[in-house]
This record gives sequence, structure tokens and C-alpha cells, in this order.
Amino acid sequence: LSGFAGKHFISIDKLTNPELRGLLDLSKQYRDTYGKQSTVEPTSAPKPLTGKSISMIFQKRSTRTRVSTETGAVLLGGQALFLGPSDIQLGVNESMKDTALVLSRFNDIILARVFSHNDITELSKHATVPVINALSDLHHPLQTLADLMALEDHFGDLRGKTLAWVGDGNNVLHDLMLGGAKLGMNIRIATPVGYEANTDILETTRRLGSENGTKDVFTTTVASEAVQGSDVVVTDTWVSMGQEAEYAKRVKEFDGYQVNATLMKQANPGAVFLHCLPRHPEEVSDEVFYSEQSLVFPEAENRMWTVMAVMAAQLGKI
Ligand code: CP
Ligand code: NVA
Repeated sequence: LSGFAGKHFISIDKLTNPELRGLLDLSKQYRDTYGKQSTVEPTSAPKPLTGKSISMIFQKRSTRTRVSTETGAVLLGGQALFLGPSDIQLGVNESMKDTALVLSRFNDIILARVFSHNDITELSKHATVPVINALSDLHHPLQTLADLMALEDHFGDLRGKTLAWVGDGNNVLHDLMLGGAKLGMNIRIATPVGYEANTDILETTRRLGSENGTKDVFTTTVASEAVQGSDVVVTDTWVSMGQEAEYAKRVKEFDGYQVNATLMKQANPGAVFLHCLPRHPEEVSDEVFYSEQSLVFPEAENRMWTVMAVMAAQLGKI
């Protein structure tokens, strides 16, 4: 993982397998050291980010990403600065390029949540410090680290396990299918017509899968076809941030894609449920969301351990 120092964290396919493995292992190590169950005294826990700062550009709302990064930075001895959409000149008076060049002179990492993935590309092109993609319209790689950590905690080695996605072919799916394929999981995706995963990212997933022992990357429009034989069922909102005007249309077109007890029964015995949150009842019933099968709250907690690992690794402080 020492080779990750100075690198951007943009999407899961850009990580080498040892980097992905190293980030997951470091996340678990941080939970042991800084978690509520830790036996290490808070005052004697290492503070590898002492004197380091992270600027956090948020063009969209956030609960988990913002709070996990701010809190995680404090635990590691660093400081995170929240820059909301109306706090800085970006987008009104100033370009992404100039913002990147200026923030790079103040801060040690720039984290950004943006609408267009082009903004992340532009930021990472001009920043002279490591960038973290905290969600764009195409990718949400921090979420995938948290999801894979929750799955490894539950199942151990994920090779040969089958992950089923039911719902929108969106940013969260894209990194999860890339990460799952890197760990040798089979991927089964059900999306309505017109809401399929990005074809280039699907192609990359198939390539990564074949390199890593994945047997099956399968797409369908039928939710039950994806879920049959799966060990993990995952969904996300049908209406991502920025798509609010399409709410009524989408809810109609996603009819039949709700993850509920009837659908979960088609998965393998012992299958688990994931959702990155925030969640709405239309995409998953309360019965599944709050069930024993649901890993959604450990998954949310993992957002902190994983972003801590990314920040420390980018700064070579591991
Ligand atoms: N899952 C996730 O990224 O949540 P937030 O939008 O609350 O950051
Ligand atoms: N797909 C959702 C994820 C939110 C964490 C969105 O982009 O709004």
C-alpha cells in the first residue's frame, strides 16, 4: 500500500489488486484501533494525519461522506474543511482548474462530491495533491470499499460469491461491480430498460472479472433472474441526487424492482442485503431493510474506517 502515496482515488478500477486489498485491510485495522470496542486509549492511539488538512468540496448533500471524513480526519489527528455549494467561489466565479491549483497550496488532500464526473477528472488533472472522488454521476468508490468490508466481515473470502444488483444502473453499482469483480465475485444485474449500467464500465467489469476468477457477469431486466442464486442483494435509490425532476417517471418505470421479502426468498439461504443509504421505502421494504439479513448499518459505519484508510494511504502515513 506504500505505493499508493500521492495517488488519486477516483474509481475502483484504477486501484491495483494489492491497493484494494491493502485499503480493506487498513480499514479493518483502523476499526480495531479507533473503534468503540478498541482497547487502545484514545490519547495513545496514533495520529498519523497530525498537521494535515483535507478540503471537502460538496456540490451535493451528504450525511455519511461528510461526517465520516470529518470525524475520521479528527481521529487520525488531521482536520477536514467542509466547503458547501455556496461557500466557495467554485462554479460561480472560479473554475475547477483554478480551485484545484489554489486548494493544493493550502491542503494535503482534496475530496470532492460533484455532479459531472468530468469535474473530478478536471480536478485530478490540475490538483498537485491527491484527490478523493466522494461521488460523481458515474462513480462512488468510497462506498464500494465500505460495502466490500461489510461483505468480507460477514462471509470472509468473497471469491465465488454472487452479488445481485436490483434497480438503477448508477454510480454506486458501477464501483461495486468493478470491486466485486476484482475480488472474484459473480455479478448479476437487473435494471429496467433505459436504466442500464454504463457499457464501458460493464466491459471493464467483465475484463476484471475474467482476470480474477469471476465466472458470471450477467444482465437482465427481470429482478428475480438476478437474485436467484445470489448471496448478496443490493439496491440504491431509484432517483439519485440531481434527478429529482424525474421522480414520478422513475418510480413508475421501476415498478416491480422493490427488494422485498418475496424477492429475497429467491436468493441463496443466508443471503444478505446492502444499501448505501439514504434509503426510501419504494426500493426496499421495511421488512428487508430492518431484517437480520440487512448489513446496512455496519456498511454505513464502514464509511469512516475506509475513508480514513484512503486518506492515510494517500499521504503515505500508514
Ligand atoms: N452513502 C452515501 O454516500 O451517503 P451520503 O450521501 O449521506 O454521503
Ligand atoms: N446514487 C445515489 C447515491 C447517494 C449516496 C446518488 O447519486 O444520489
